[in-house]
Amino acid sequence: MEKKRMISGITTTGKITLGNYIGALKNFVDLQDDFEMYIFVANLHGITLPIDKETLRKNIKETVALYFACGLDPTKSNIFIQSDIAEHAELAWVLTCNTTLGELQRMTQFKDKSNKVKSDNGTEFIPTGLLMYPVLMAADILLYDASFVPVGKDQKQHIELARSIAERMNNKYGEMFKMPEEYHPKVGAKILDLQDPTKKMSKSSLNSKSYIALLDNIEEVKKKIKSAVTDSENLIKYDLENKPGVSNLITIWSSLANLAIEKIEKMCEGKDYGFLKENVTNVVVSLLEKIQSKYNEIYNSDDLEKWIESGTLNAKKAASKKLRKVYNLTGLNYKRK
Ligand code: TYM
Repeated sequence: MEKKRMISGITTTGKITLGNYIGALKNFVDLQDDFEMYIFVANLHGITLPIDKETLRKNIKETVALYFACGLDPTKSNIFIQSDIAEHAELAWVLTCNTTLGELQRMTQFKDKSNKVKSDNGTEFIPTGLLMYPVLMAADILLYDASFVPVGKDQKQHIELARSIAERMNNKYGEMFKMPEEYHPKVGAKILDLQDPTKKMSKSSLNSKSYIALLDNIEEVKKKIKSAVTDSENLIKYDLENKPGVSNLITIWSSLANLAIEKIEKMCEGKDYGFLKENVTNVVVSLLEKIQSKYNEIYNSDDLEKWIESGTLNAKKAASKKLRKVYNLTGLNYKRK
């Protein structure tokens, strides 16, 4: 049977976190035997806010090396860099012309990020790229006729917009795009900030104790878990609403050890938060040690570029075929009646 297609990417805005791993990367790896995967490094999204070129280059290489270090296999998955496939930007323009300003201004990530630019810089200078971000993301997805998009919960609104644009354009031009669906991991679609568990863990957080980065120093990681905010009850129970900090630690343990949450709760009966944190530390440290050792092995090898060659070729093939169809259906291709 033909495998269904999946598409996803991670933005090159900073360190890849445990949230990115549990919400997305781990899923990519777990699913690569059963789906035709297209996984890219979202470097065009990585310039929506100012970033200097050395940092951007470093982030791109780091992201792709981490993909492989985490277990993505270039013989199973198509790995590529977004800007290497010009069709992403080309399709984004056509989609832009089928999207309204209101839709983009209503996006919560746009509101959050533009408010942050205003408060951080005291300026009204909001980069247009921030507004257009979800259109480019819709192009990333629709270009590949993907059935599923494996992402964390925070991407929900973006995927809904991609679906609205697809539906609108299918109605207007005839069957053009496949309707994509989001695909969340069973556990850990939203990993929380270690210091403020009412928020999601984010790589752009200013407090480095709030997140664990996959390349963090191991001793630092131990300290971060030790100082993770819990509550004063000392009762290990999964209750996201009333005990978000504790529930977050249980979620991390459950995802990384492949243990059901109820099983962890049983194992923790009568134990204190020290026991919970010790176990979370063990699973996180053992994962990061494995990833970091593989990362150090491959980061400077010539293999990295070789490993993205066939993924880039396959992506180019799929993307150019789709864009041709879009140009034919919209009338942009003037040579065809
Ligand atoms: P980004 O780079 O912010 O995050 C990458 C992936 O990690 C997930 N994620 C989380 N999952 C669980 N808990 C968290 N705390 C957490 N933080 C992040 C995100 O949901 C995402 O799956 N816009 C995307 C990148 C992108 C993309 C695409 C994704 C561009 N084009 C097309 C899918 C399809 C983003 O900024 O992800």
